[in-house]
Amino acid sequence: MSDATNLREGAGWNAAVGAVVAPSGRRGGTLRLVSSADVDSLDPARTYYVWVWLLQRLLNRTLMAYPTDPGPAGLVPVPDLAEGPGVASDGNRTWTYRLREGVCFDDGTPVTSADVRYAVQRIFAQDVLPGGPTYLVPLLDDPDRPYAGPYRDGEDGLPSVLTPDARTIVFRLRTPFSDFDHLMAQPCVSPVPRHADTGARYGEDPRCTGPYRVAEHRAGSRLLLERNPHWDRATDPVRPALPDRVDVAIGFDPDEMDERLIAGEFDINLEGRGLQHAAQGRLAGDPVLRSRTDNPKTSFLHFVSLQPHIPPFDNVHVRRAVHHAADKILLQEARGGPVTGGDLTTALFPPGLPSHQALDRYPTGPDLRGDLDAARAELEAAGLPDGFDAVIGTQRGKFRLVADAVVESVARVGIRLTVKELDVATYFSQGAGSPETIRKHGLGLIVTDWGADFPTEYGFLAPLVDGRLIRPGGGNWNIAELDDPKINELIDTGLHTADPAARTELWREVERRVMDHAVILPLVHDKTLHYRGPRATDVFVHPAFGLYDIQAMGVTDTR
Ligand code: ARG
Repeated sequence: MSDATNLREGAGWNAAVGAVVAPSGRRGGTLRLVSSADVDSLDPARTYYVWVWLLQRLLNRTLMAYPTDPGPAGLVPVPDLAEGPGVASDGNRTWTYRLREGVCFDDGTPVTSADVRYAVQRIFAQDVLPGGPTYLVPLLDDPDRPYAGPYRDGEDGLPSVLTPDARTIVFRLRTPFSDFDHLMAQPCVSPVPRHADTGARYGEDPRCTGPYRVAEHRAGSRLLLERNPHWDRATDPVRPALPDRVDVAIGFDPDEMDERLIAGEFDINLEGRGLQHAAQGRLAGDPVLRSRTDNPKTSFLHFVSLQPHIPPFDNVHVRRAVHHAADKILLQEARGGPVTGGDLTTALFPPGLPSHQALDRYPTGPDLRGDLDAARAELEAAGLPDGFDAVIGTQRGKFRLVADAVVESVARVGIRLTVKELDVATYFSQGAGSPETIRKHGLGLIVTDWGADFPTEYGFLAPLVDGRLIRPGGGNWNIAELDDPKINELIDTGLHTADPAARTELWREVERRVMDHAVILPLVHDKTLHYRGPRATDVFVHPAFGLYDIQAMGVTDTR
């Protein structure tokens, strides 16, 4: 790294949001990435970290994939292993794909429809392969004869997925699903050849269909990718595959990562956590650094869930009182402020989705510090003019700061909250994600966040508000246990509606009804501050993931 490169001004603040910085298309060299933590898994069926899903784009191909596109088109899957988008019939219940010719695994064996079907079968073996998304299970399983996956039930099971020939695959869903192409873009459906499957250990030596394969993985310290000699550029419309190697250094503390990144030792923070406080402080006085920084929205919503099954929050007026009493500015500061916290919001959908609408059902006054008169009127209507005592659930760290800001907000109208901290590691599985835990501690309010697993209205909102998706055993995202028949019905109508414009309107109606219930108090649409090193070319924040699209990038120094 020459000093000259490091002094050169970058493309500008936010230049890689919605556009490509340093487009070059130049091949060769080594892209150098850094991460504080190791991958959750290199088995494509067992990963859920967003940044590992982006890493998977280098290693694996799927029937559909999000295109290499920084604009709104990036949100719509395009054919990858498939020749065209899924052909839907029977009211979005049957989806058929045809594979391209000439695609091979990195061991040279051809990819067939059976390998895609086998990947789908593996998802059913959650006892052996936990960790990834499971949207396909309820869509494809027969509740009268549940399929337990290929290890316990063999390969003949799962009659809902058919492979009439080596290039055709047909999915027969139990219920219509308009976003099926998005599910076919998740890493968990990357083809897996049965001959190479080692079950729980597959992530140690996975077969690959993408431009790269794993050359070396030292757990907790290094992951090196090299070119896959059996990948054929001519069959891949998505991946430019510029560098010869991708080298990931793992296991640094966040401040050290920032320093070495800024010093030019690494090109991009793969994990996408964003610059920490110390590095942020350097930006204001350093125009060169600032010109290499991006501040995109991550599409995560931070919110407080209000629990109608915990009195007095069973009364909608009580829930509305909390909404009106919220000091939105204080809450935004608790999240980290406008740059690293996010944009204040009174609606739910991230701005990139078509259904995003201006909605402010519970105004908080002209200064956004809370409309205390409106809050008191709601408490009056609930028969609790003097307020009440309740408990707010949270975890230590950033969520704790939000809880404290809620406490301060509602104290002004006589609502006296105590804070209950739950374990961080099990927060979403057994804490906030467990209806039982919520009842045990009597948590009337809960601090949480959520990002969609695929960028559609269904992907974003259904897990939070569909009554049929409540998981009583834990891992529940519909924390308020909202189960409104009218909302459920609108969601179902959306799933068999083919016309996107009609679907957009249906989802706007769902969002309005959810806000009427006042069970979700939206705070901010999350933002992060990312640094792009001067050696990296073809850099942009992928709209479907909110992080840099690693697979699109190259380097200036191609030796
Ligand atoms: N839906 C999960 C959450 O909100 C994960 C979201 C990000 N991961 C992903 N692969 N899309 O925590």
